[in-house]
Amino acid sequence: MDLEHAKRVGIAAAYAGAQVLRDRFGNISQINKKGDFDLVTEADTGSEKKIIATIRQAFPDHAILAEESGASEGTGEYRWLIDPLDGTTNYAHQLPFFSIAIALALRDEIMLGLVLNPMDGELYSAISGKGAELNGKSFKVSSTASVYDSLLVTGFPYDFSEIVEPAMKRFTVCQLASQGVRRLGSAALDICYVACGRFDGFWEKNLKPWDKAAGAIIAAEAGAVITNFSNQPFSINQNEILVTNGRIHQEMLSLLKLKD
Ligand code: IPD
Ligand code: CA
Ligand code: CA
Repeated sequence: MDLEHAKRVGIAAAYAGAQVLRDRFGNISQINKKGDFDLVTEADTGSEKKIIATIRQAFPDHAILAEESGASEGTGEYRWLIDPLDGTTNYAHQLPFFSIAIALALRDEIMLGLVLNPMDGELYSAISGKGAELNGKSFKVSSTASVYDSLLVTGFPYDFSEIVEPAMKRFTVCQLASQGVRRLGSAALDICYVACGRFDGFWEKNLKPWDKAAGAIIAAEAGAVITNFSNQPFSINQNEILVTNGRIHQEMLSLLKLKD
């Protein structure tokens, strides 16, 4: 597999989706609810259609797992994971902070990740073993050595009410220990912001594979450490994720450990 070619196709797909998101921004006729707080708009589905069409044209035999249309089988072992609009709640409220996240995995190993912010044009990309880039320039995680000096970011899943107590405990503990905790509303961008050193750490529970696959390889290639809250190595099917610059990882693990 020529991953550089796959990257070019993925970037073309991301820009095609971004066009839909920009065109419809502030101009959504209908917002549907998948759950009480889980929204879907015609921008999510429109962006996803463009992304899938671009990928299918280049790789008709690849499997696809996309947030809105689900899974479609391929004939080989490659699978694209697609979030056509990460940050739908922001988008529906005309808050210009959202992204498109596209990853390519070989079985469950992520080989390529792309995260595009359609509003400011930042494109994060990484190919396994080749480093991470922001608009073509390579970057690394921060060198912050303690949580005390760190700026952190987190997110809350739509089933928040089921995990509100531990989630708020963790938020409080980390807020008290650090320079602050932000909640921006696009997990893919949150992870990329750790990757490029704007934040020092990110954690969240119950993310889906398409929320985190692209960001995870970008962060790993930028030198981030990624585990679950018990320090087990990252996998896209795990339901906890902690991404840090590495230097604050142990400290973050002990902060996220809930004490009764
Ligand atoms: C959501 C965003 C948000 C995170 C939620 C995700 P969506 O994705 O990434 O930051 O906190 O857990 O579900 O629904 O906007 O694609
Ligand atoms: Ca998402
Ligand atoms: Ca989404």
